Amino acid sequence: MSKYLIRGQKKLSGNIQVGGAKNASLPLLCATLLAPGEYLFSNVPDLKDVEVLINLLRHLGLKIEKNGQNFYRIINEGIKTVEAPYELVKPMRASFLVMGPLLGSEKRAKVSLPGGCAIGARPVNFHLNGFENLGAKITIDHGFVVAETRELNGSTIELPFPTVTGTENLMMAAVKANGRTIIKNAAREPEIVDLGDLLNKMGALITGLGTEEIQIEGVSDLHSTNHTVIPDRIEAGTFLVLSALSGGEVIVQGVRKDHLQVFLEKLETAGFFCESIAGGLRLVKKNSENYSVHINTEPYPGFPTDVQPQTVVLLTQVMGQHILTENIFENRFMYIQELNRLGAEIGLQEKTAIISGSKKLIGAEVTATDLRAGAALVLAGLVAENTTIINEIEHIERGYEDLVGRLRSLGADIEKIM
Ligand code: EPU
Repeated sequence: MSKYLIRGQKKLSGNIQVGGAKNASLPLLCATLLAPGEYLFSNVPDLKDVEVLINLLRHLGLKIEKNGQNFYRIINEGIKTVEAPYELVKPMRASFLVMGPLLGSEKRAKVSLPGGCAIGARPVNFHLNGFENLGAKITIDHGFVVAETRELNGSTIELPFPTVTGTENLMMAAVKANGRTIIKNAAREPEIVDLGDLLNKMGALITGLGTEEIQIEGVSDLHSTNHTVIPDRIEAGTFLVLSALSGGEVIVQGVRKDHLQVFLEKLETAGFFCESIAGGLRLVKKNSENYSVHINTEPYPGFPTDVQPQTVVLLTQVMGQHILTENIFENRFMYIQELNRLGAEIGLQEKTAIISGSKKLIGAEVTATDLRAGAALVLAGLVAENTTIINEIEHIERGYEDLVGRLRSLGADIEKIM
């Protein structure tokens, strides 16, 4: 098993480019199941999660070629099977995103139920209730969800919570349904808007994207198109935290500031201000006063759960006592024990972390429990004195393309060891 070895406290400076969004790419690639033809995608990140999905899409019958680092050509000449087996779904929960487009195009899908997950139980009941609203009959058969129907009929679906992949799955099922579908309490994330934009280019009629009510007028035919994936706002947030920790010499290129509004506002309450410089952004600390930062993670446009661990690392370095409440996933504080092993002082009360600032971090051996927890440990290792070793880095490589190479180009002393 590979690990990262980091010798911390090196002076970092230079430019770091944000790649295409992982969580946009996954549903976008799944949408190609909906209509025959040739698709060209650019700005797709080179990640394990994308590779896992590509393998599944190939199994379902799509021809997929990688044309250079971040380009894919996908040819849909017809779906060969509607069955997504356990071994192809198990490595990544988001594989469940094939369910909506298969149901939309083939009126039948058999997809292995995704298993448990490190950050929370993450059931798919809201997806399934939505498919039923559209007229699908759902059964669970030997660990598979089987959805089938003669036809899908538009309907009003009120989501109990604005689930991101749930909204995406239902949009992809509804685009070819008869009549009008309304998704109420829909997720509003930029990744939803990117998917809706692709579907509209394919001939769908979707309005209300980015609001809590999405309207979809069903159409009988869709066609292929080309698409460029939006920048990854979570990678941008991670690198902006890096820029704040580095003392402002790191410039992050390709950030959509409008996708990170609440995140940036919260960092201002910790004294960090965004500066536009040389075509990028950096976060600079304006003074060293005592702060008391309060953060609640929420669905978009609220503070993103996916930058929560990275932000906690930053707060360990900000004078004062800070409070962060995690409202999306029940298990997203597993990295706190690891940070405390590096010298942080973070207390936990149910879903709230109480963070003592201005703590000196000192390297140790730690373990990444999930993707964003792993990113937080890398940031902590870069700040810490001496050497930090991070185990289970496969979590990190699921979501950050060539992290080691990009950090080394800024002057970080990080290497992958066996
Ligand atoms: N939920 C249910 N039932 C459902 C669906 C969701 O109870 O049917 C609950 C979940 O258990 C959770 C909450 O609703 O407590 C929100 O979950 P959501 O469905 O929005 O999450 P997701 O779609 O599974 C996506 C991202 C996650 C990101 C969350 C929240 C993708 C592929 N994944 O997950 O990304 O944390 O939205 O923003 O888009 C990551 O990239 O590290 C990551 C985990």
